[in-house]
Amino acid sequence: MQGIATSPSRAALYGPVASLMARQDWERLFADDIEAILELKRKHNAVILAHNYQTPEIFHCVSDIRGDSLALAREAQNLEQDVIIMAGVHFMAETVKLLNPTKTVLIPDALAGCSLAEGITAENVRTLRERHPGVPVVTYVNSSAAVKAETDVCCTSGNARRVVESLGVPEVIMIPDEFLARNIERETGIKMHTWSARCEVHERFTPQEIRQYRRMHGPLHIIAHPECSPDVVAEADHAGSTASMMDYIAEHKPEKVMLITECSMSDNLAVMHPQVDFIRPCNLCPHMKRITLKNIRQALETMSTEVTIPADLQEPARRSVEQMLAIK
Ligand code: 13P
Ligand code: SF4
Repeated sequence: MQGIATSPSRAALYGPVASLMARQDWERLFADDIEAILELKRKHNAVILAHNYQTPEIFHCVSDIRGDSLALAREAQNLEQDVIIMAGVHFMAETVKLLNPTKTVLIPDALAGCSLAEGITAENVRTLRERHPGVPVVTYVNSSAAVKAETDVCCTSGNARRVVESLGVPEVIMIPDEFLARNIERETGIKMHTWSARCEVHERFTPQEIRQYRRMHGPLHIIAHPECSPDVVAEADHAGSTASMMDYIAEHKPEKVMLITECSMSDNLAVMHPQVDFIRPCNLCPHMKRITLKNIRQALETMSTEVTIPADLQEPARRSVEQMLAIK
């Protein structure tokens, strides 16, 4: 985490990404927008939250708070600034708005969605409840506010096991990510009634591909995101959220590592761990990649697009997020 920058020199701004791009490219493509964004943040008393999948020039050069979905939601509870920019996808901005109803929350591109969030509706949740009466509903934060409003408690990939186990029940409706639910079912032995939505980025990885990378690259630590299929997770040395991937690398300091996840994850971690060789069979998230320095700058210049949540959804959706955050 870093504090809000106060007029750092261009060399200091370039420093964190020096190992990833040439100075002249950074100057040509990014430097003006970075300086403008830092100035606009001061002017509007704004803070930028960036998910770990944001590109390095956003993640390392303009963001104030960075992390996985859980860390961003936790940090969103304690923000002092008047304006919050979410450099991430729409469900993340909605979560921040739920926790900061009186503040201005902006998303630089309102079309930055998520195949999981779009894969289920509030009506679908009501149908599942009718099908499994009395069974609690645990919803991945990768979901709309309308779906959260039908939920008992939310979870992220970072706390899914803890949340599910905290309920002390033999079966759970866990939505919308089929693979996350199956992975947690395997870890906990708790029966999952799930939904058929998938992450379009993580569902593309196959166990055959992972085995082939092992053969090609020799000794290698493989870390998979739990949005991958259970067969892919079974091939990995560790499975966890994007924050858990960071912790694993900091703790194990592997010589060679492969992250089975979105591409920017390895770029951002390579800056922090120059001694680690990152093998990169990654897939890009087209939604995360909608966020750019240019549209962050524009969001601050125009104070748009503002994230709003229908009045009747605010209280029930907030309750399911707060319920999750209360679980330590
Ligand atoms: P994390 O919570 O692990 O950062 O994951 C969010 C996400 O969208 C992964 O695809
Ligand atoms: Fe959604 Fe997958 Fe993109 Fe994450 S990586 S935002 S789960 S589509």
